[in-house]
Amino acid sequence: MSTHNVWTHKGTFLLAAVGSAVGLGNLWRFPYLAGENGGGAFFLVYALTIFSVGIPILIAEIMLGRSSRRSPIMGMRFLARTHTASRAWESIGWLGAVSAFVILSFYSVIAGWAIHYTGLMLTGSLQQADATSIGASFEALLATPELLLLYHTLFIAASALIVGLGIHRGIENGLRLLMPSLCVILLVVLAYSASLGDLGAAADFLLTFNLGELSLEGWLAAMGQSFFTLSLGMGAIMAYGAYMPGETSLTRTAITIAVLDTAVAVIAGLAIFALVFGAGLDPGEGPGLMFVTLPLAFAEMPGGALLGGIFFILVLGAAISSAISMIEPVAAYLVERFDLPRPQAVAAMVIASWALGLLTVMSFNLWADDSLFHRLFDRSAFDVLELLTNILMPLGGLLIALFAGWALTHGEVLKEMHTNERWFRIWRFLVRFVAPTAVAFVFLHTIPQVEG
Ligand code: PHE
Ligand code: NA
Repeated sequence: MSTHNVWTHKGTFLLAAVGSAVGLGNLWRFPYLAGENGGGAFFLVYALTIFSVGIPILIAEIMLGRSSRRSPIMGMRFLARTHTASRAWESIGWLGAVSAFVILSFYSVIAGWAIHYTGLMLTGSLQQADATSIGASFEALLATPELLLLYHTLFIAASALIVGLGIHRGIENGLRLLMPSLCVILLVVLAYSASLGDLGAAADFLLTFNLGELSLEGWLAAMGQSFFTLSLGMGAIMAYGAYMPGETSLTRTAITIAVLDTAVAVIAGLAIFALVFGAGLDPGEGPGLMFVTLPLAFAEMPGGALLGGIFFILVLGAAISSAISMIEPVAAYLVERFDLPRPQAVAAMVIASWALGLLTVMSFNLWADDSLFHRLFDRSAFDVLELLTNILMPLGGLLIALFAGWALTHGEVLKEMHTNERWFRIWRFLVRFVAPTAVAFVFLHTIPQVEG
C-alpha cells in the first residue's frame, strides 16, 4: 500500500483542505481566544503568523504529503530514510498523531454544544430571548455532564462512522454546498449583528492593537491558533496532500486556503463582538462566547428559529469535515503499519479520544473549580488541553519547516513547487529561518512563564 490514487478532480484537494481548515477553529476558538487576549493585539500576532509562518509551512506540509504519496507517519518515515541519515524526523508523524488525538477529544465536546443549539433553535426555545436568558440556558447546558457526554458521543461516533465506512471522499459534493452556504448565512448573521449591536466597537476591538496588552500566554495562544485554524503541523494536510495531483500549484492553493479561512474567522469575530458590545457582554467570556452571542441575532431575525437551526447544522457539517481530517491520518497509519482493518483502526483512535474527552466534559461542571489539574497546573483540564494544543501544533510545524527547508534537496523541492527560482528562494528562506525562529522565539518567551 505505498502508492495512493490521485484525486481525479483538480479542485478536490482544495475542497478537502478547506473542509479541514474551516471549522470550530474559526467560529468558536478564534473569537473566544481573541476576546480573552485583548482583541487587536491577538489578531495582529495571529495574522502575522498566518502569513509569514503559516503559509510557508502549509506549502511545506502539502509538499511532504504529495512527494511521499503516503499517510503522514509512513510518509515521514519514507522521506526521512531517503533524504537523511537520521530517523529523528519520523517523530513528526508521531507528534501529529498525538495532536490529532488530543484535539479531537475536546473538539468533539464543543461540537456537541452545536448539536444542543441546533435543537434549541429548531424548537424556537430561544426566540425573542434576551442576553440574560440565553446566558442562563448555556450555563444550564454546561451544568449537565450527562448531556455533554451524550452529545460528545454522538458527534465523535458520527465522525468515526464516516471515516470508518470510507465515505469521507464522497463528502466532496456535500462540502461544495456546505461551504458557500455557511459563508452566506454568516454574512446574514453579520448584517443582523451589525443592526442589533455595535459593529464599530467590534471593528475597533479586533483591529486596533496595543501589543503591550497581550500577555505572554496570549502570544502563545495567537500563534497556536494560527496553526490550529489552518489544521497545520499535525499531518491532516499532509494526508490530503498525498492525493493532490502533481501539477496543481502549491503556492496558489496554500494562499487560497489561508485567505478563505481567515475571512471566515474575521466575519465570525466581527458578528460576535458586535453582539458583545451591543448587549454589554464580556468579550473575555471564554469558550462559551459564540454560544451566548450568536443566538441573540437569531432571536431577533424573522425566521430566526429556522435560520438558526440551519446555521448550527452547517456549523456541525464544518466541524465534522474537520474532525474527519483528524481521524484520517491516524487511522491510515494503523491500517498501514499494523494491518488493522479500517473500521478497527478508526475505532481504536476514536475510542481513545472519546475517553480523553471526558476530561473536557467534566471541566465545565464537576471539575470546574477544583481538580487534579487545578492543583498541578493551576487551570482546568480543558485549559491544559488547550495549552497543549498551542504547543503541539507549532512544534509539529517547526519540525516540518526544518525538514522541508533543510533535509529536502533543492531539486526535489523545485520539482514539487515547479515555480520560479525567485519565489523558491523566498519560500526556502521563510521555512529555513523565519518560521523556526518565530516559533522558537514565542516558545522560549512564553513556555517558561506558563506555570507561574
Ligand atoms: N482547522 C480546524 C478548525 O479550524 C481544526 C483542525 C485542527 C482540523 C487540526 C484538523 C486538524 O476548526
Ligand atoms: Na480554521
